Amino acid sequence: MNTENCPPLLNTSQMTGDLGGGNANKREMENQAFSSLTTSFAVCLTGTKKGCGIGGCGACTVMISTYDPVSKKILHYPANSCLLPICSLHGTAVTTVEGVGSTKTRIHPIQERLAKCHGSQCGFCTPGMVMSMYALLRNHPEPSMEQITAALDGNLCRCTGYRPIIESYKSFAGEPTCCQLRGTGQCCLDQEGGVSSSSDRGDRMRSGLCNPEEFQPADPSQEFIFPPELMRMAQEQQGRTLVFQGERTMWISPASLRELLELKTKYPKAPVVVGNTSVGLDMKIGGVHHPVILHPDRISELRIVNNTNNGLVIGAACRLAQLRDILMKAVSGLPEEKTKIFCALLQQLRTLAGEQIRSLASLGGHIVSRGSTWDLNPVLAVGNSVLNLTSTDGKRQIPLTDDFLSGCKNADIKPNEIIVSVLIPYSKKDDFVSAFRQAERRKNALSIVNSAMRVLFKPGTNVIMDLNILYGGIGSTTVSARKSCQKLVGRQWNEHMLGEACRLVLGEIFLSPSAPGGKVEYRRALLVSFLFKFYLQVLHGLKILVSDFLRQISELTLFMWDRISERALCKYMSALGNFECRPPQGRQVYQDVDPEQPPQDPVGHPIMHQSGVKHATGEAVYCDDMHPIDGELSLAVVKSSKAHAKIVSIDASEAFKVPGVVDVVTASDVPGENGTKNEKAFAEEEVICVGQIICAVVAESDIQAKRGAEKVKIQYEELEPILTIEDAIKHNSYIGKEKKVEKGNIEKGFNSADEIIEGEMHIGGQEHFYLEPNSVLVVPRGEDNEMDVYSSTQYSSNVQELVASALDIQSNKIMCHIKRVGGAFGGKITKPSYFAVIAAVAANKTGRPVRFILERHDDMLIVGNRHPFFGKYKVGFMNDGRIVAADIQAYINAGCTPDESEMVIEFIVLKMDNAYKIPNFRVRGRACKTHLPSNTAFRGFGFPQSGLFAETWVTAVATQTGLPPEQVRDMNMYEGLNVTPFKEQFDATNLRKCWTECLEKSEYYSRKTAAEEFNKQNYWKKKGIAIIPMKFTAGFNKTFYHQAAALVHIYKDGSVLVTHGGVELGQGIHTKMLQVASRELKVPLSYIHLCETSTTTVPNALITAGSVGSETNGKAVQDACQILRKRLEPIIQKNPEGKWEDWVSAACLSSYRGYVTYMNWEKEEGHAFPYFIFGVACSEVEIDCLTGDHQNIRTDIVMDACFSINPAVDIGQIEGGFIQGVGLFTMEEIKVSPEGKQYTLGPDTYKIPAVCDIPEQFNVYFLPNTRNPIAIYSSKGMGEAGVFLGSSVFFAIRDAIASVRKERGLPENFTLNSPLTTEQIRMVCADDFTEMIPRDKPGTYKPWDIEVA
Ligand SMILES: Cc1cc2nc3c(=O)[nH]c(=O)nc-3n(C[C@H](O)[C@H](O)[C@H](O)COP(=O)(O)OP(=O)(O)OC[C@H]3O[C@@H](n4cnc5c(N)ncnc54)[C@H](O)[C@@H]3O)c2cc1C
Ligand code: FES
Ligand code: FES
Repeated sequence: MNTENCPPLLNTSQMTGDLGGGNANKREMENQAFSSLTTSFAVCLTGTKKGCGIGGCGACTVMISTYDPVSKKILHYPANSCLLPICSLHGTAVTTVEGVGSTKTRIHPIQERLAKCHGSQCGFCTPGMVMSMYALLRNHPEPSMEQITAALDGNLCRCTGYRPIIESYKSFAGEPTCCQLRGTGQCCLDQEGGVSSSSDRGDRMRSGLCNPEEFQPADPSQEFIFPPELMRMAQEQQGRTLVFQGERTMWISPASLRELLELKTKYPKAPVVVGNTSVGLDMKIGGVHHPVILHPDRISELRIVNNTNNGLVIGAACRLAQLRDILMKAVSGLPEEKTKIFCALLQQLRTLAGEQIRSLASLGGHIVSRGSTWDLNPVLAVGNSVLNLTSTDGKRQIPLTDDFLSGCKNADIKPNEIIVSVLIPYSKKDDFVSAFRQAERRKNALSIVNSAMRVLFKPGTNVIMDLNILYGGIGSTTVSARKSCQKLVGRQWNEHMLGEACRLVLGEIFLSPSAPGGKVEYRRALLVSFLFKFYLQVLHGLKILVSDFLRQISELTLFMWDRISERALCKYMSALGNFECRPPQGRQVYQDVDPEQPPQDPVGHPIMHQSGVKHATGEAVYCDDMHPIDGELSLAVVKSSKAHAKIVSIDASEAFKVPGVVDVVTASDVPGENGTKNEKAFAEEEVICVGQIICAVVAESDIQAKRGAEKVKIQYEELEPILTIEDAIKHNSYIGKEKKVEKGNIEKGFNSADEIIEGEMHIGGQEHFYLEPNSVLVVPRGEDNEMDVYSSTQYSSNVQELVASALDIQSNKIMCHIKRVGGAFGGKITKPSYFAVIAAVAANKTGRPVRFILERHDDMLIVGNRHPFFGKYKVGFMNDGRIVAADIQAYINAGCTPDESEMVIEFIVLKMDNAYKIPNFRVRGRACKTHLPSNTAFRGFGFPQSGLFAETWVTAVATQTGLPPEQVRDMNMYEGLNVTPFKEQFDATNLRKCWTECLEKSEYYSRKTAAEEFNKQNYWKKKGIAIIPMKFTAGFNKTFYHQAAALVHIYKDGSVLVTHGGVELGQGIHTKMLQVASRELKVPLSYIHLCETSTTTVPNALITAGSVGSETNGKAVQDACQILRKRLEPIIQKNPEGKWEDWVSAACLSSYRGYVTYMNWEKEEGHAFPYFIFGVACSEVEIDCLTGDHQNIRTDIVMDACFSINPAVDIGQIEGGFIQGVGLFTMEEIKVSPEGKQYTLGPDTYKIPAVCDIPEQFNVYFLPNTRNPIAIYSSKGMGEAGVFLGSSVFFAIRDAIASVRKERGLPENFTLNSPLTTEQIRMVCADDFTEMIPRDKPGTYKPWDIEVA
């Protein structure tokens, strides 16, 4: 055996980067290198980002290229670098985003198009998006649209709503991408010749946000070649075993099967790591340590693909993406009857994980790690697959059965054995095989329940000869309904058999009411729903198979031919078929600029994001990308594991023993104020939520700090926690006073009503899930207590203030800098200041720079969420649908500290009327104090909750009166000049215009009729459509928040530096500020630069939030530029023919206040908001009644955006906000244990929308010819408004459900809570299957999770 110590792990030729990610990945490498395999090569590439560290977000995507010396083939594939063990990369070429292109050399067409199509906002996901596409193009230079969308399955973006990303990548597709507006013959992109003008009712409207004619051509021949030295190395090292010896772990990559077997005998406990997607997570999350790891990647026997008489034999190290390609080839080349198992596997592979994981994970790893929700194992088992095992004792075969999957000792592989290959048999003529899975998100999400079913009939009959049904996601392993299947053998395939099968399966497959993962009744319902689908699929297949003598089979005729016509059969067959992820199409229509506007004036044009190209090349620097500072320490925090407890003791003695640990910092180390009067930075005597920071460990490296933090022991004395709104109401536990607004005479209103209804609604919270976790770097300057604080905050001056007060020094010693933030959505307003305090106290104590980058799970635990909401309504209305009185009581779960909760409940109360004029109206709101992490600001600030609730009681009126919901909305909607319930005047004309325009643009009525027709034809799938109006307000109800300042420098060379108080969060504020400066100074954009936000240049900046950042800062920039331009005017007049540079140089030689708002809560009146934004969205969906899945078919949004400074930025905000709203209202679920611990702490458990969730057709129209005189250039803030419009999907689903319930004779006044998940959809579409599942009486068991809203 040849041993190499510390070999060159990576070849870094010009095409390859090392495993990038700057500091993030340096830490990651140490983590991943299996103990002390410390890497010595320089890590200076910061393009690759770390968003989650567990393979779930795709921000860290790189391309791996390998050379196989045997087949002489080069393979390129995308991979999550956060899961890649460094040692596995030996001999591979790793291409990071830097290797694709850069502004210093050449920008790659992928990067260029992504930037020009506005595919990046905060930019944190962008390098990963580029790399996924790059890997695809390396393999398929002209990919299909299906391949393009599949390539992005594993990449999450929280900002853009994905549409522009797909749009940019469409340009690479080797096929026409226009949908012809699904048959209308119109071009959906409407981009003849790029950005095109079109006359829309005579208004100058424009569509298209980029010009494809400007794109550089894509030329695959220009790509870097695989480094020849790596080919040579692969050739030379073929016979050599590679051993990497670290402090705690040895990594061995044997060169032959024989050697692998010897090693497995010597180290029977050593895992055989291929993709590391299972072992890696066990090590990262589960804390598992492996002293020896075997890596069999170079062993050719494990990579074989053989067509045998019985089936396909596939090497165990074959990756799942390769398996997919192999199966696809087999399916296209073999007779259909032989490939039923392959087709079932392909069905699961289509939605299993993302392309990066599919490219890493191996067949053998999948089989052996056998997670309960792994999707391929049930199919392999029902398909009677066989494992070919080898050990030093010899070869043997074992069947892949349910016993194997449940880990039965006598059916398992032995510790010294490895799987060499797997035989996946051909199916038989009379075989039927199906696979099912239902997840919280259609792609890149583990199944909630999956299943594979196979039936074999006696040839030519419908008599069951063999039946096999397996389920995943029910227990800790895949389970089999073996006994049920045995009992059904010999039965005919008919309805009686189905009923019996359901009863047997529900009796055999037990799911405890306390089962981990919750959703117990839903999971039970899926067991039988899948069975029913299988039943129908087989029936459908039998019809084809035995059509000749079908009519002679009495039982079959019972169902198919005698009682039910072909047409009716089709109706029931709608249970079959899955929703496909089709490439989205869309239009974006906005107001054109005045034809008189000078061409150099960029205002009103869809200018590319100022950092767009740098996002795409990975050159954009975020807090964690900053180079390590000399002497820098890393910080990790120790958090409370109890929701409410006294701290009895903190014992850090063991932490100090961890090598590299420098200090442990607690509240007693804070020289000044430990946070604020409302919230402490470090807990002192008591903890008030799980996740509260108690102390921090600083160490030489990140991993050492984390190890140290794990060793700190905290002793608690537990106290009773309050966790839910219900509990808080019971205990009278509130923050602040009740907020109330009342209009008219509520009692009289109810007395005059024809009818009164009452109801309730729960709306769950929402995680911000910005892609960049909170980050801070504190650098003491060494003089006068000065400190630089680099933070990913939305609120620079608050960071400065809290750090100064914690260190008991003046604010003028603290310099807070923000280059850019990788998404924030309100989650980085308050908490970053506390993170900065903790790092600053540590820096102060140690005298060294301190970096504190939160892990995704810590970020999600500590930062808090959107407030969970509970509302009660009482609404009085006339029989014709007019609402005459509404009495609303709203509660939010504020968590353990006030944070922004009082403002959120105020906004909920003030905005509860949404778009409706209710003559007698009362809203009361309370913020409940509980022992959950403190909830905080989130895009929309309470309006998404109050708006959804308002639309719910309006919908309830429609249901009760039997009127169409749009009619009830229309008749109660504000019109013309009006006042809000708190007596603020506004003009609702544009609300009405948006409504009419959206009805027309979405073809609402014709599509509603078509949906109704569809619903008549389809029993198990239903369509729904809803149109929802919105009255949103920008800004805050206090004038104070509308201040801004800017500093504009003009340098001698004519270049301009703009600084302002706003933070670039991805919302394009810097781009807009550059556009403002360009117009005001009358210089091209290329002259102007924007460097960072900093407290040294702009003091006392207010939070960047509330949709008004661009306006208030824009006014400040405008003001500053106008002052400077005025000063230059005399010089310009003296030399009118001169150039800008001349005037500036001559000048050198010769020497707003914001919006007024207020709210008087005593009088319940005010001018609470600067202005109103109106919008209307119409969405159409299709639901699967048996699984609860849904497909977003189309959304049309009409928005009263007035004159947009940058339509690309504003449309991006609307689309991104809308998709975030779709997540909030239909998908994103925060799960909390009965003890108050949040379970959902990463992309594995918390699902935000992915590419597959955006509407197939997604149109955004700006209302033509509208103005907003009080805002800069007559614009309106679009940052938040889009979120609420996501509720149109909620109500479209409701519409579909209503159609189901009507058809089934179920009560139509049903209650839906938010999010309207697959679980809720399924359970509310009640049927025989939901009737037959066992139910447990609440209170007789301890549930896995609780409802905190
Ligand atoms: C983000 C993410 C998303 C995912 N989504 C899904 C999903 O949607 N559906 C789904 O089904 N799965 C999903 N998975 C799980 C994934 O399918 C498995 O982790 C993967 O298949 C394991 O393969 P691997 O090569 O990475 O295994 P490794 O982690 O390398 O190894 C796993 C185990 O297999 C053993 N092993 C490997 N090869 C052999 C062999 N030849 N002989 C003996 N033992 C062997 C190892 O000893 C080890 O114990 C997801 C995983 C991640 C990280
Ligand atoms: S950081 Fe690797 S997938 Fe999220
Ligand atoms: S641009 Fe995609 S996460 Fe921000």
